[in-house]
Amino acid sequence: MSNKAILEYDGKKYELPVLVGTEDEVAIDIEKLRGQSGIITLDPGFKNTGSCKSAITFLDGEKGILQYRGYTIEELSEKSSFIEVAFLLIFGELPTKAELEKFKADIKKESMISEEMKNILDGFPRSAHPMGVLSALTSALTAFNPIPVNVNSKEAIYNAVCKTLGKFPIISAWAYRNSQGLPLNYSDNSLDYTANFMRLMFKIPTEKYVVNPAVVKAMDQLLILHEDHEQNCSTATVRVVGSSHAGLFASISAGVSALWGPLHGGANQAVIEMLEAIQKDGGDVEKYILKAKDPDDPFRLMGFGHRVYKNFDPRAKIIKKAADDVLESLGIEDPILKIAKHLEDVALKDEYFVQRKLYPNVDFYSGIIYRALGIPTEMFTVMFAVGRLPGWIAQWIEMRENKEPIGRPRQLYVGATKRPFVEVDKR
Ligand code: CMC
Repeated sequence: MSNKAILEYDGKKYELPVLVGTEDEVAIDIEKLRGQSGIITLDPGFKNTGSCKSAITFLDGEKGILQYRGYTIEELSEKSSFIEVAFLLIFGELPTKAELEKFKADIKKESMISEEMKNILDGFPRSAHPMGVLSALTSALTAFNPIPVNVNSKEAIYNAVCKTLGKFPIISAWAYRNSQGLPLNYSDNSLDYTANFMRLMFKIPTEKYVVNPAVVKAMDQLLILHEDHEQNCSTATVRVVGSSHAGLFASISAGVSALWGPLHGGANQAVIEMLEAIQKDGGDVEKYILKAKDPDDPFRLMGFGHRVYKNFDPRAKIIKKAADDVLESLGIEDPILKIAKHLEDVALKDEYFVQRKLYPNVDFYSGIIYRALGIPTEMFTVMFAVGRLPGWIAQWIEMRENKEPIGRPRQLYVGATKRPFVEVDKR
């Protein structure tokens, strides 16, 4: 394999180094191209641009492979736990038993937030979308923890990780409780991370909260599936914001905002809204397939297609099975699940979707599980954020440890050329 590529332009040749990753991915390094030639590369949406070298997550969209630090998502989601995978993502190796117990205990020590945060929450109307509230509260944590993380100290990084993982589920649950007009809950450190999060969300003051192990297991698995996904929109955002040396909470708050959009994490909410609309409209799946294929109709089949996967999203396969299991264990029959399966069957046989390699993605079935667990649609993307948090932290730390330069893309200017200013009364 050659270690250089040649670019020829305007009679001149430029040599560009070629790098090969550990999974044999090949990248042409254009870092010095502009300096040598004055030419930039143009790639809207960064569809073909590697923004960094990363050792955290590998995915092969053509083959449908997803691995965190070399371990397959199938094995991790079956055998591991959310916090164990968080340790793996952030620190690079699976923890020993002692390391895992210490990590869990240290996160629990951070499971309080300042009472003054409630004043900020009180300022939001009940109708506020929980993702907006979550982004604002994450940013507000900076005010209560103003000392920036010393990225040169392993201990400071470890403490910041525990702090972020400890506090984020509380503000996530509070965003939900606020939207429901319910009193806020505090952590119960006798519970594991995911069970505690469920309790923070659902405990009502008049009743003892009983943990349902099957539900907690399903939720933990869902969170694992969302933990990282290399340079997606929100993670790239966290890295770019952090590259200006903005703090961890500020960077994560930006990541939450990026995740909110319906083309990214907001798709899980959009999927359920779409399935409900199809149900209300008489369940005519074919009609919606036609709409999705119509180039003049902005409607897209939510939960279908992916920037990187041109094959089944491996997470979707796991979630589809989990959706069946959760509904069965809770004794729920959800007509929406039937519509989802019918939609998937029709789309997977349809030439339009086959040709464009549009398969169900992680969001297609996750909403059905959230619905079965009694989580309101508006909270779905918050659940995604709680899952994605370890990935954001791991990527932020990697970016700082690798001393990456500030994220600052170029552009191809296509606007007006220099022209004289015309006074307002002469225009
Ligand atoms: N329904 C109908 N047509 C679609 C869809 C869809 N869901 N997705 C892509 N296409 C078509 C698109 O119209 C285009 O057709 P043509 O070549 O005729 O113009 C072709 O497929 C390629 O689409 P694209 O927009 O260039 O692909 P992209 O890589 O820029 O977009 C995507 C990826 C995920 C934004 C897009 O597939 C989409 O909007 N899907 C629905 C939203 C969704 O489910 N998002 C969750 C993504 S997974 C979780 C996450 O990342 O947060």
